[in-house]
Amino acid sequence: MKTEVISTVEQPEKGALRGAALIKKGELVAFPTETVYGLGADGLNGQAVNKIFEAKGRPNDNPLILHVAEKSAVRALWKETPPLAEILTDTFWPGPLTLIYNRSAAVPNEVTAGLDTVAVRMPDNPTALALIRASETPIAAPSANLSGRPSPTTAEHVLLDMEGRIPLLLNGGPCRFGVESTVLSLVDKPTILRPGAVTKEMLEAVIGPVALSGSILSPLLAGEKALSPGMKYKHYAPKAQVIVVSGEAAACAGRILELYDKMEAQGHICEIAATVQTIAYYQGKRCSLMGDRENPATLCANLFSLLREMDKRADVILSEGVEATGAGLAFMNRLLRAAGFCIERV
Ligand code: TXA
Ligand code: MG
Repeated sequence: MKTEVISTVEQPEKGALRGAALIKKGELVAFPTETVYGLGADGLNGQAVNKIFEAKGRPNDNPLILHVAEKSAVRALWKETPPLAEILTDTFWPGPLTLIYNRSAAVPNEVTAGLDTVAVRMPDNPTALALIRASETPIAAPSANLSGRPSPTTAEHVLLDMEGRIPLLLNGGPCRFGVESTVLSLVDKPTILRPGAVTKEMLEAVIGPVALSGSILSPLLAGEKALSPGMKYKHYAPKAQVIVVSGEAAACAGRILELYDKMEAQGHICEIAATVQTIAYYQGKRCSLMGDRENPATLCANLFSLLREMDKRADVILSEGVEATGAGLAFMNRLLRAAGFCIERV
């Protein structure tokens, strides 16, 4: 299969119409969102949804998010509307917040992997919204990477993983946030299953106390049940070994330099993911700027593309860790998974 690429940077509508024609035929279309690129299919067509799992090599017990283009479209997908949903959608939609609640009969089993609940979000991206509207159906979409690889934040990343596996890619340029949406379950008390750009603090300002699922910063214990099935799989992993050193900036930099020299002496090729606070320490070493420790959203925005880039040059990636609050929680959640939880605190 040849993968057609249409740029939607200037005119989302034209590409969206071509995409919608494929979605309506039960085919797959990769498209940009404000978080990462998605791999979309008609979310009410179980056979079309199955093609997503095939193209990604995704385990079929891992449910998908339905993407809508109007806030009101969620009503047909949930059994009833939970009390907190309205204020959350009014505040954060369109945007990087996915809400989970009991599903309606309209949602096929293929989307929910047999669960009684369904995840829904309204993306904040002109191409995504135009595609969903023209398709006249909710679009089921996971991130458009091969299962286990870092999520794609540019059309080039999507092509590297998906070329020849899908008929169409809509290229809307790089994604703004760079990490996937916050996933919030409203089934019982509000609980974050996956942190993202809509932070715990932002949610609490609107709805009061929000719980964090236990496995956000630690691996699942043997026998522990994943609240969000996606959390149990190895994720976001480059081929290189990722080592995280967490702590105050200067201490992190000192330890990273020690590890760099030690591992290079052992024959490894290392690269450091640096921050504006520490890059001066790494002069003469292989390193790339990831962002600003004081503004972890900048670290999120670059993390996945930097992991892919550094993976081409190094077999050991040394990264600083930051405090897991605000946007730092989403950053540490993705980084620790990419590192297989290999972290040293200094
Ligand atoms: O930003 C995003 O959310 C991107 C863009 C494309 O929208 N999508 C995305 O999808 O990250 P995916 O499939 O890579 O991640 C969805 C996560 C998985 O961890 C999955 O297990 C969880 O949401 N999930 C989906 N439905 C669920 C449900 N009913 N209950 C619990 N977890 C669910
Ligand atoms: Mg994913």
